[in-house]
Amino acid sequence: MSEHKVSVIRGDGVGVEVIEEGIKVLTAVGEQYDVTWNFIEHPWNSDYYFEHGRMMPTDALDQMAESDVIYLGAVGHPDLQDHVTLNGLLLPIRRTFDQYVCERPSVLYPGITSPLRDPKPYDIDMLVIRENTEGEYAEVGGFQYAGFEEEIGIQSGVFTRRGCERIITYAFEQARRHDRRKHVTSITKSNALGYGMLVWDRAFDRVAEGYPDIETNSLLIDAACMDFVRRPESFDVVVGSNLFGDILTDIGAIITGSMGLAPSGNIDPERRFPSMFEPVHGSAPDIMGKGIANPMAAVLSASMMLRHLGHDDAADVVDKAVIFLIGQGEILTPDLGGTSSTSQVGDAIINALGKG
Ligand code: NAD
Ligand code: IPM
Ligand code: MN
Repeated sequence: MSEHKVSVIRGDGVGVEVIEEGIKVLTAVGEQYDVTWNFIEHPWNSDYYFEHGRMMPTDALDQMAESDVIYLGAVGHPDLQDHVTLNGLLLPIRRTFDQYVCERPSVLYPGITSPLRDPKPYDIDMLVIRENTEGEYAEVGGFQYAGFEEEIGIQSGVFTRRGCERIITYAFEQARRHDRRKHVTSITKSNALGYGMLVWDRAFDRVAEGYPDIETNSLLIDAACMDFVRRPESFDVVVGSNLFGDILTDIGAIITGSMGLAPSGNIDPERRFPSMFEPVHGSAPDIMGKGIANPMAAVLSASMMLRHLGHDDAADVVDKAVIFLIGQGEILTPDLGGTSSTSQVGDAIINALGKG
């Protein structure tokens, strides 16, 4: 038997709704695989901000440091500026726990209708490895004459050789996995961003030398966006900076069916700190409270969490249950063309455990 301590931040909007289902599934699969969960619920979100003037308490990171993993829904509230919610919670967690890898798979499952023209199941099967602690998201910059006519915002990107090399190395290691196709695409923009992106390009070339068995190519981000739509089957592992990885993974989500299907892991591969698992999507204010959010992204994120914790068998069972349910095409939320509710899909995933 193993026991894991999980910090749970449901967050805002549909984050709350989908994490409920993820916890149901984790609990059910835990009973089958002898995994005991110690869920620590943290009520940190925009309502917490309205009450306390901050997104989470001053010792929040210390509290979470005690956990094995963090399971997060999403934060974001229509009445609160996004930089407050995100810089007050999500981004400090990724940085403080040095979760420098953001791992985001995009797979076209059988039964999904892609907005692209007739791709076959598994024609799209890629893994985006997004740098998660520096790059364009580095907290470097400032205002001059803020609020005045002359106002200037300076936003600098930080690309360190160490930061680029470690994320690119992780991508190459993933490409070598038995279930991948030994190909890595580097996303760059060194034609326009001639400092940081050159550090990135040089790091890519240096790391690639150590992986002669892996094929590589390099694409400019604009061309990569085009190819995600034009020929997504050409991608296996894709490695990109923080912002480029962010943009590409929304494209990856929608070409494989829905934002409601895309999982992610924010990982500290050295396991010094807890890693965090969350759907790629946000708090989706346009559908919150209606009970129609797709919980599959949250459930597949929970499966990534199981794998991180060493429970590969349990993770496989969860993945297969979700894929089985999609293939059945009956109990689905409206984003996938169904009429079922968030909790009906959660229940159906539990019923499908062991199937597929
Ligand atoms: P979003 O991902 O919340 O929504 C984009 C679109 O996808 C919407 O049409 C929404 O209805 C749909 N969608 C999202 N999740 C879905 C689900 N589970 N099932 C079905 N459909 C789903 O992106 P947005 O609208 O740009 O952002 C809303 C808020 O969330 C903003 O405040 C943003 O900053 C925040 N955000 C937070 C996170 C996070 O905390 N990890 C991630 C992304 C966005
Ligand atoms: C994501 C989100 C976040 C990001 C935002 C909400 C800060 O879009 O996880 O993809 O850009 O990383
Ligand atoms: Mn995003």
